[in-house]
Amino acid sequence: MEARVENGGSCEVGKSGWGKSLPVPSIQEIMRSDSQSVPQRYIHENKDRPIISEDLADSPEIPVIDFSFLAKGNEDEVQKLHLACKDWGFFQVINHGVKEEILEKMKAAVAAFFELPFQEKKKYAKAENEIEGYGQNFVVSEHQKLDWSDMIYLFTLPSQNRNFKFWPLSLPGFKEALEEYSREMQKIAEELQANFSVLMGLKRDGLKRLQGGELKQGIRMNYYPICSRPDLVLGISPHSDGTSFTLLLQDDDVTGLQIKHNEAWVPVKPIPNSLVVNIGDATEIQSNGMYESIEHRAIINEKKPRISIATFMFPDDEQEIGPVEAMIDDQNHPKLYRNIKYVDYVREKFSRKMEGKAHTQFAKLSTR
Ligand code: OGA
Ligand code: NI
Repeated sequence: MEARVENGGSCEVGKSGWGKSLPVPSIQEIMRSDSQSVPQRYIHENKDRPIISEDLADSPEIPVIDFSFLAKGNEDEVQKLHLACKDWGFFQVINHGVKEEILEKMKAAVAAFFELPFQEKKKYAKAENEIEGYGQNFVVSEHQKLDWSDMIYLFTLPSQNRNFKFWPLSLPGFKEALEEYSREMQKIAEELQANFSVLMGLKRDGLKRLQGGELKQGIRMNYYPICSRPDLVLGISPHSDGTSFTLLLQDDDVTGLQIKHNEAWVPVKPIPNSLVVNIGDATEIQSNGMYESIEHRAIINEKKPRISIATFMFPDDEQEIGPVEAMIDDQNHPKLYRNIKYVDYVREKFSRKMEGKAHTQFAKLSTR
């Protein structure tokens, strides 16, 4: 097994208590100075390399959910949502009611941030013992392969969790765009959570109550520079999200996200102005495996950089999560996961490199 950096590393986990990650170079900066280079640390082993194909016509489409029907309580749409979560763990949400202008402002704010000179961005750099700020996460060893992306991660809700020292406040419009976007994502997330509750045999507010109130929120903004050899690298390594669920806003015209479906990598072809939603590990645990978090990764484009904005929705740190009663039936559906304090789960996730669903073992009960 890969050597892990335990707490005995160079420093203790910082204030958020979630984890830490070793400092890495900015791949965007490396590309700015030499767009043809492909440094060794980024070249993945053969078995992990992606197949780059321009022709996506034959690949399957992930399910599409019409949010306006869900919000009206349409039973057929709720059933569609159930199948999307059960069979795919990923779906695209259309008619979500968020104004296009808000999405565009958010994308523009993120683009403007990554366009800043490196010296400027560095002011918001994460500390080695934190996961919040500009840099990269999930780097636990000097030997692991690195992902072809830079990111900035910010806690957004509840608002008292905001650490403005990591926010690029000098960038005009950034704060306003992010705050407005964050509010809109929260509204969508609440409706989705209410539906998940009902589908798990609870009242609409069931999951909310089990999770210690309103969902918490953090937003990870990803920048994927171009690469002259996209067949050798990965924008983000295969992983599942340690969230309740995630809402992803992606570039309308650069396909990059791929999900593991029936043992194959399936591209998520962007529908303009839609949001991609994926089930996270906490929902897998709470649904006792009815809805599984799905492995996904991002590949790199040779000609166009790509931006994506992942809004992570998660329970309160101190809350214990576990399979909800209605999802356990000793005869047919024995309890598959143990109850675990959310922050303990997150710490485990951030103490490892991204490696598919390996970290989810931490919550599994042994079944013989
Ligand atoms: C993530 C993620 C995918 C993408 O940030 O967790 O999976 O397409 N991003 O950027
Ligand atoms: Ni992800």
